[in-house]
Amino acid sequence: MLILAIESSCDETAAAVVEMEQGLRRIRSSVVASQVDVHALYGGVVPEIASRAHIEAISGVVSRALTEAEMTMEDIDAIGVTYAPGLIGSLLVGVSFAKGLAFAHGKPLVGVNHIKGHAAAAYLTDETLEAPFCALIVSGGHTSLYDVTCPTSFVEIGGTRDDAAGEAFDKVGRVMGLPYPGGAAMDRLATAGFANGRGEMFRFPSPAVHDESYDYSFSGLKTAVINQIHTIRQRLNLGDDGELPEDIREGIAASFTRAVVDGVTAKLRRAITEKKIRRLVLAGGVAANSHLRAAVESVAKEMGVTLTVPPLSLCGDNAAMIGAQAYFEVLAGNFADESLNAYASDEEAAFV
Ligand code: KG4
Ligand code: ZN
Repeated sequence: MLILAIESSCDETAAAVVEMEQGLRRIRSSVVASQVDVHALYGGVVPEIASRAHIEAISGVVSRALTEAEMTMEDIDAIGVTYAPGLIGSLLVGVSFAKGLAFAHGKPLVGVNHIKGHAAAAYLTDETLEAPFCALIVSGGHTSLYDVTCPTSFVEIGGTRDDAAGEAFDKVGRVMGLPYPGGAAMDRLATAGFANGRGEMFRFPSPAVHDESYDYSFSGLKTAVINQIHTIRQRLNLGDDGELPEDIREGIAASFTRAVVDGVTAKLRRAITEKKIRRLVLAGGVAANSHLRAAVESVAKEMGVTLTVPPLSLCGDNAAMIGAQAYFEVLAGNFADESLNAYASDEEAAFV
């Protein structure tokens, strides 16, 4: 089955063609047009600018995905599109475009949840992966552990009660003066920090909520790191946003990353034991973090869990992952029609 997929939930306009069959999962094309440069000027995504940029890009991005796959709309069996969660104006651009395309070409339309899409990147990584499995999705908007009972049914067993891990990475990066989004730059700084023995330079609170749940809370950690940065700037007379010394930058990045990784893996370990998890997927933009990948890999190895982590190109937002999930939605008969709407949150979209 050939699926044309469209993703526009945040600041990436993406389209892809994936070929999915029993025993065959192939990305025929995957085009991602990033708006990062535009939003970097403002230190974060500006929703109105994002919607306008999607409108400008979407037609060209979809055409390129078809051209690179050496296909026309005639070859496509179904159209998949992200409809939730995300920025409502951004989502609406993709949903409206997909509806128009489906109507004009008489193709079936499938609405895909973005988080389910992140997990579905794992199907494209490991052709043998089948549900049930557990999915740890760590992104700019989510930090959640799901029991994926079948490819279309996700039950959240733990999640963040406030900020997501990616938000914390970006906010700390911004206060340190790193370009938006700060995640990848923080990753590199932390690597230097660990190499120079600065992983314990600062002691920050754990994002693992101290109770029997599998929940996280990143806002306390984020605030503690930001307060630490302000205190150091005052002590060194650097002004409100003065450049921190390199050893301090490395120490903050490494100590913060250690708190994130230790907190995330602490809950994960307990979930693996208590929920008897045998197959695990780690996905989402923050799954690109080298330290988180390494830590989850070692937890999985130690606890005898089979782990799938998509390559970096399939961790950040892309449309191939949406196409992979769309395939399973088609198999389940979950088709949309011209009434398909976009929803900012999982709750509004009736996630499960
Ligand atoms: O999944 P994603 O592309 O978009 C959402 O669905 O939110 O995730 C984006 C997030 C951003 O917060 C970005 O800073 C973070 O993923 N990110 C990273 C890394 N690469 C991207 N965070 C930590 N380390 C990285 N290497
Ligand atoms: Zn995402």
